[in-house]
Amino acid sequence: MLSNQIARALLKSGAVAVIAVLAACGNKADTPPLQGAAPAQTPATAPAGTPVPAQAANLPAGQLTAVVYKSPTCGCCRAWVDHMRQNGFAVETHDIDDAPLQEIKAAGHVPENGKSCHTARVGQYVIEGHVPADLVKKLLAEHPSDIAGLTVPGMVMGSPGMEGPNAQHYDVIAFTANGQTRVYASR
Ligand code: CU
Ligand code: CU
Repeated sequence: MLSNQIARALLKSGAVAVIAVLAACGNKADTPPLQGAAPAQTPATAPAGTPVPAQAANLPAGQLTAVVYKSPTCGCCRAWVDHMRQNGFAVETHDIDDAPLQEIKAAGHVPENGKSCHTARVGQYVIEGHVPADLVKKLLAEHPSDIAGLTVPGMVMGSPGMEGPNAQHYDVIAFTANGQTRVYASR
């Protein structure tokens, strides 16, 4: 089991994206979409903790790198990794248990009500769940200092890696290190 310290170290490990995957993801791939689960305007309850590393992502074009933490059984997570790769990201995946995964989420300031199956880091940013790759690139290009990461809370049908019938509209939420959230984009 990873300590918070280790989890934080992982999250600070350079210009890479840490993408962790909730163990439940694969087991619940057929679960109906979490309609209305997106806490768009809700104050987040992210644990007070480590400040987000301040160093720039500094990722050369064409060498976008993501490190992924995920459950070995999560099929939709693999599909999201494929989505990222198809959009130019080099993705390194790590299959881990749920407990250390949850610690990584907490260390990455993912709001409690904003969790999804996997948690990612791209550069200095945490990417939680099925965030579209173009929005990850937009985030890197804009390079905001106040945003800790983006999340698509829950498991929304129609988001990248969750393709299928009954696609839903969803909000991509930006969250800060001190628990604030706002809608970053709507899809
Ligand atoms: Cu998923
Ligand atoms: Cu996932």
